Amino acid sequence: MYLNHIVEAIGNTPLVKLNKVTEGIRGTVLAKVEYFNPGNSVKDRMAFKMIEDAEKAGLIKPGGTIIEGTSGNTGMGLALAAIAKGYKCIFTMSDKQGKEKQDILKAVGAQVIVCPTDVAPTDPRSYYSVARKLNAEIPNSFYPNQYDNLSNTAANYESTGPEIWTQTDGKVTHLACGVGTGGTICGISQYLKEQNPNVFALGLDTYGSVFKKYKETGIFDETEIYPYKTEGIGEDILPQNVNFDLIDMFLKVSDQDAAVMTRRLAKEEGLFVGWSCGSAVHGALEYAKEHLKEDDILVVVLPDHGTRYLGKIYNDDWMREQGWL
Ligand SMILES: Cc1ncc(COP(=O)(O)O)c(C=O)c1O
Repeated sequence: MYLNHIVEAIGNTPLVKLNKVTEGIRGTVLAKVEYFNPGNSVKDRMAFKMIEDAEKAGLIKPGGTIIEGTSGNTGMGLALAAIAKGYKCIFTMSDKQGKEKQDILKAVGAQVIVCPTDVAPTDPRSYYSVARKLNAEIPNSFYPNQYDNLSNTAANYESTGPEIWTQTDGKVTHLACGVGTGGTICGISQYLKEQNPNVFALGLDTYGSVFKKYKETGIFDETEIYPYKTEGIGEDILPQNVNFDLIDMFLKVSDQDAAVMTRRLAKEEGLFVGWSCGSAVHGALEYAKEHLKEDDILVVVLPDHGTRYLGKIYNDDWMREQGWL
């Protein structure tokens, strides 16, 4: 038995019990380990679907170019889809992302353009604006726009959600997931809530992001926006994939708490995962300490792999420089 292409290995990732970091917590905490996808992240799912849906809609033609602003993981998924289907890729990325992420994308054939982080999304230098400009200039190019492209949510509604439901025999009571574009949490939450409306969805946000305040007050507060270090979650925009009705509550997790928990996941659970996985688990456990009951089953989504953070949170010197070790 073999697969005809590596993209056929996307999905059906394992659900693994957390045993040590959960000490003192009632209930069961299970991790959906998304680095088992071929591009090592949950984003393979939505990247492949955005391209398939674009083909069906006639938005990209043979020989076309995929252009996207990406923190790396979506780019990897798009690059795999492009290799499978014969497209070129150009990715814009903010300069706060690890160098590893750029090199990984180049390794799978993409062109990478690095843009400044500390400019407004509307600034012509931002990675959002540069991607849009290239899309306007390059013929037969397709800009998936993971933030507002609802194929992103749909991919997780069609695959990740049903997997979690089946893997827990329909017993899952809580979902915890970091929120960037919102596609992962909203796709899973929509599916789980359709099966059982009592499933509680906890979104993990960063300090420096607008989501939590927006959920609680309906106010888009620009004073909430400031630079932070965690990669992949939190936003200074409201993406269309974030459906606030599908997220019951937000908690913010600091860069340091996330980094420390990520390193614990590697050492204590054998899960060599990415930085936002620490955000998700730290926030999930904070919630679980107060609210989880004996029979509850909380599923926390771990989006990506540790290799992308070797120069940062898995580097002791870097951790010391931050004052986090
Ligand atoms: C490492 C990492 N964690 C979490 C997320 C957030 O997932 P979503 O964009 O589906 O909200 C992303 C998305 O870019 C990511 O790259």
